[in-house]
Amino acid sequence: MDEPGVGEILVQRDELAHRVRELAGEISRDYENRELLLVGVLKGAVFFLSDLMRHLEAECELDFMAVSSYGSSTDHSGVVRILKDLDVSIEGRDVLIVEDIVDSGLTLSYLMRTLQARNPASLEVCALLTKPERRKVDLPIRYVGFEIPNRFAIGYGLDHAERFRNLPFVAVLDD
Ligand code: IMP
Ligand code: MG
Repeated sequence: MDEPGVGEILVQRDELAHRVRELAGEISRDYENRELLLVGVLKGAVFFLSDLMRHLEAECELDFMAVSSYGSSTDHSGVVRILKDLDVSIEGRDVLIVEDIVDSGLTLSYLMRTLQARNPASLEVCALLTKPERRKVDLPIRYVGFEIPNRFAIGYGLDHAERFRNLPFVAVLDD
């Protein structure tokens, strides 16, 4: 059997760069005079997060969480586990979760409930990509980069079985 490869490009490199700057501008305005804690969701959000943070003018700190929702397959297992928790307390802080992609929304919904229970001053989400067709739970996503069709996406942090994260664009997995 052939290994899956890189299919059609969904978001080009320059579109990513442009949109990330726009989002950073919006976030900088919204959080002016506040201190933001960015919570990156490992591993996929790392590329988006570091590009976004570089363009933020608001004061900000960074922490990470790792959760497992998918194995190597492209279907949701329905199980969300915390593999790595935050290093800092978020009580009373303005928290922005940075995600690579919201698919069913199950992972994010679990994360939001978990973090909300720790009494942050505010809790919002910034997701690079969403697949509205696949959403199973209704979620307030404050900042969205791009809406994409119901295809498995790879690149710019997104993987399939840990491959393809290093692509500088977002493409469809060609299997
Ligand atoms: P959800 O819980 O179904 O919203 O899935 C969220 C997580 O699944 C994302 O943070 C990704 O890590 C992964 N995921 C969902 N869709 C894709 C995709 O198209 N490509 C790569 N990873 C995906
Ligand atoms: Mg993720």
